[in-house]
Amino acid sequence: MVSFVNFVSLALALASTASAFPAYGSLAGLTREQLDVILPRLEFKQPTPPPGPPKDTGVKLINDAAHPWKAPGPSDIRGPCPGLNTLANHGYLPRNGVASPAQIITAVQEGFNMENSFARFVTYSAHLIDGNLVTDLLSIGQATNETGPAPPAPALAAGLDTHALFEGDASMTRADAYWGDNHSFNQTLFNELMSFMDKYGNGRYNLTVASEIRWQRIQDSMSTNPTFGLIMPRFFTAYAETTFPINFFVDGRMTGTRSLSKEDAQYFFQRGQFPDGWHRHGVPSSTEGMDTVVNAHPIRPGSNTKGVNTYTADPTSADLSPEQFCLIYVNFVNRSVKSLYPNPTGVLLKVLNINLQWLYDSISEQCPGQQQFPYGNSTTQ
Ligand code: HEM
Repeated sequence: MVSFVNFVSLALALASTASAFPAYGSLAGLTREQLDVILPRLEFKQPTPPPGPPKDTGVKLINDAAHPWKAPGPSDIRGPCPGLNTLANHGYLPRNGVASPAQIITAVQEGFNMENSFARFVTYSAHLIDGNLVTDLLSIGQATNETGPAPPAPALAAGLDTHALFEGDASMTRADAYWGDNHSFNQTLFNELMSFMDKYGNGRYNLTVASEIRWQRIQDSMSTNPTFGLIMPRFFTAYAETTFPINFFVDGRMTGTRSLSKEDAQYFFQRGQFPDGWHRHGVPSSTEGMDTVVNAHPIRPGSNTKGVNTYTADPTSADLSPEQFCLIYVNFVNRSVKSLYPNPTGVLLKVLNINLQWLYDSISEQCPGQQQFPYGNSTTQ
């Protein structure tokens, strides 16, 4: 029971939180008291349904005159994802870095030819945790003039920088949250990535480089980060992301086995910029090649439980075997979403159910009959 004095100071703190609360701030993990103050001040936006696959999925000039690169301004938001940063810097996403899930799906399809159901799966997973479901807005990180560590969940306005679930440890070009900045381009890590391109890929990024840098970054975090964690859904994204430079960043006009040059890697990872004349790949893609990376150095999902070098497998986390794919979804909904939104009511319940439905729709073909209903079986409550 909070005392009267505590209650008054809590109410004052909440009032100032609410007045500063941005429309894209995530509501995940907020207390009932916080929600009661913040929700009435948000403008409800009926969520836009997810776009379907585009008609044209061929090779196409993307770095065109209508989408010039512009450096983000001080209040523009950028984050840990080089793909989304690039789309925002070229105006395929709003340049302020705040977008609806539907805008993100359209942009990743148009700019990078990301396959439709995969784009929906990734976007609604991220939005359910890091976005604002009531305003239908997700921020791709934090304003570039905001420095310092991103707060862990519940985070009011860190968007994709939020260190939990989606953003995670052992990234290729971003440091672990334990070291402070989990979202900015890290030159030291990029230098290591380039040295791996020399050592394993004749100066280019390919699946061998992806496999070795993935393993190196995991071992590095295991031995230096006492809080290192690699459980679902991060376990999935950590592997999936190592295929993205090949599946999405390589110019679509390249023939033969796809691989990325150091120069082009620098464009995307560091500057968030399409190289001159860059064309997207002519085949809708997702995580092709991930099995190779996973099988090169197999490891179970887990974490350092008692400091560095105490990595312990977590038997309750799904792994990446094909038969466990649906368990990623089941656990995500029943554990992650439900724990961050334990008792939603009213408009929040309504938008949670809508977004959960769209998440399931994205994988319903692979997981028939496995839809989860953490808040009951209706989108009309
Ligand atoms: C569809 C919506 C997308 C969302 C919500 C999303 C979100 C994220 C997030 C949160 C991270 C940080 C994970 C970490 O801790 O490393 C990340 C990393 C990454 N993303 Fe995205 N992303 C999306 C699409 C894309 C696309 C289309 C591309 C490529 C064109 C891409 C390429 C990458 C890469 C390469 C990384 C790894 C960065 C590194 O390890 O240094 N993403 N993304």
